[in-house]
Amino acid sequence: MKGVVFNLFEQFISENWSEEIYEQILEECSLETAEPFVGPGTYPDADFLALVVKATETVGVELPVAIRAFGKFCFPKLAEVFPHFVQTHQHPKDFLKTIDSVIHVEVRKLFKDAETPEFRYEDPGPQQLVLIYKSPRKLYEFAEGLLEGVGEYFQSPIQYTRTVRVENEQEVAIFELTFSEAAVCVS
Ligand code: HEM
Repeated sequence: MKGVVFNLFEQFISENWSEEIYEQILEECSLETAEPFVGPGTYPDADFLALVVKATETVGVELPVAIRAFGKFCFPKLAEVFPHFVQTHQHPKDFLKTIDSVIHVEVRKLFKDAETPEFRYEDPGPQQLVLIYKSPRKLYEFAEGLLEGVGEYFQSPIQYTRTVRVENEQEVAIFELTFSEAAVCVS
């Protein structure tokens, strides 16, 4: 996982709890990484999971709830750093259709060793979109939090359901999204 995600997690804990709580979580975790996490670096997924699990124990939040909240926290931060990915769209549906073909492609060019998930799309109607997410990390709640963040960013809540199925021996999650009529890009 890229250092940028670890850095966002530190911000998430520091802003919602405190920097001291983050330092405590860090001290109590047995991590493979000894040095500080830096944005362009790549670190073991196991370290990220260890930090998240320790954080949930420390602040008393359930793991799926914490990961979803972290995803929601991340979206406006990512949009701030990469405004051009977001500002070119008036509606969250148009924006979301670019994750796989534009955003994560650019992310893989910008960040060496980035491993982004695969998204496929089905478009059953004007107010709907189906996102088919495939990643060995299975960060379903993180994806849901990001979707909630996208809805908030465009001031247009996104309703979603998640089902899981197996394709070619790999689990995929199907997010069925429903958009509200009105949506504006706030930036
Ligand atoms: C401005 C928009 C976005 C940017 C700049 C961005 C960038 C990134 C970056 C840097 C990573 C980490 C990759 C790694 O550590 O190897 C990542 C992972 C991920 N992104 Fe995005 N992303 C954006 C929007 C989205 C949206 C809207 C979704 C929707 C669900 C999404 C879903 C994910 C997921 C689920 C992961 C975790 C990795 C995995 O599942 O394997 N991203 N993204």
